[in-house]
Amino acid sequence: MKGIILAGGTGTRLHPITQAVCKQLLPVYDKPMVYYPLSVLMLAGIQDILIISTPTDLPLFHRLLGDGSALGLRLSYAEQAHPNGLAEAFVIGADFIADDSVALVLGDNIFYGPGFSSRLRECAASLDGCVLFGYAVKDPQRYGVAEVDAAGTLLSIEEKPALPRSNKAITGLYFYDNEVVKIARSLTPSARGELEITDVNMHYVRQGRAVLIDLGRGFAWLDTGTHESLLEASQYVQVLEHRQGIRIACLEEIALRMGFISTDACYALGLAMANSSYGQYIMDIARPASRS
Ligand code: DAU
Repeated sequence: MKGIILAGGTGTRLHPITQAVCKQLLPVYDKPMVYYPLSVLMLAGIQDILIISTPTDLPLFHRLLGDGSALGLRLSYAEQAHPNGLAEAFVIGADFIADDSVALVLGDNIFYGPGFSSRLRECAASLDGCVLFGYAVKDPQRYGVAEVDAAGTLLSIEEKPALPRSNKAITGLYFYDNEVVKIARSLTPSARGELEITDVNMHYVRQGRAVLIDLGRGFAWLDTGTHESLLEASQYVQVLEHRQGIRIACLEEIALRMGFISTDACYALGLAMANSSYGQYIMDIARPASRS
């Protein structure tokens, strides 16, 4: 399975902080926002990843992450010239996807919860059609909203409905079989001029090939769309990290635990950032015995 991170858009809702740097590179406590969605793909076991962003911002992602080899990844980069919609990711990424299945994650989505990694790997292994992830929110009209029957079967999805049929938002993480490329290519822009991910998902729903996984209570799907929610996301990460002495979305740690890199390589990555507590953490993870 391949992975795509869509990290473009205009970021206007966060002006002026996104006037000089794009939203997905803003800090969420101790690391750039894009680390969080990248960690999700890595936890799903995906190593071939395409990062899509604007022509101005793409070089900054490359500066941050390079070719990914240090993390045992193969990263590629592609431009989205205009924010033509989330589903354009599959048109832009068609050659990259080739004949594989693909997971798309939005570059501003943060997921955290117990057992997430094994759930992701199960989804990737048993994929037939598409897998979407639902999350109960108090303001569903801001999202794609799922309508499900009593048995949990997905009946429909509406994009930002004025009168939502449930409180289940569709999160920005999507697993698709290879047909998604053909579906995305067949779409026409919506009334707001975008190739809508909801239209892609409805295609699978109509075929009875869309599965909705409820992330459940206690799971964190954090919003970064407003100044307040961005700060709250940082505070959430800070509280957990300080209380438990762990790091959320530490790419070097995940690469080590997933077997993408060796302990020596992991230690070297920490050493290169030894001046920061983040670097020290990586060194400790790689060589627990060296803890002072
Ligand atoms: O976050 C989950 C929601 O994401 C879903 O529930 C909705 O169904 C889905 O349409 C999307 O809604 P948003 O209102 O969050 O979409 P937005 O236009 O804000 O774009 C999401 C991110 O993707 C944002 O960081 C900007 C980026 N983006 C957006 C567009 C339209 C791109 O990189 N390229 C684009 O063309």
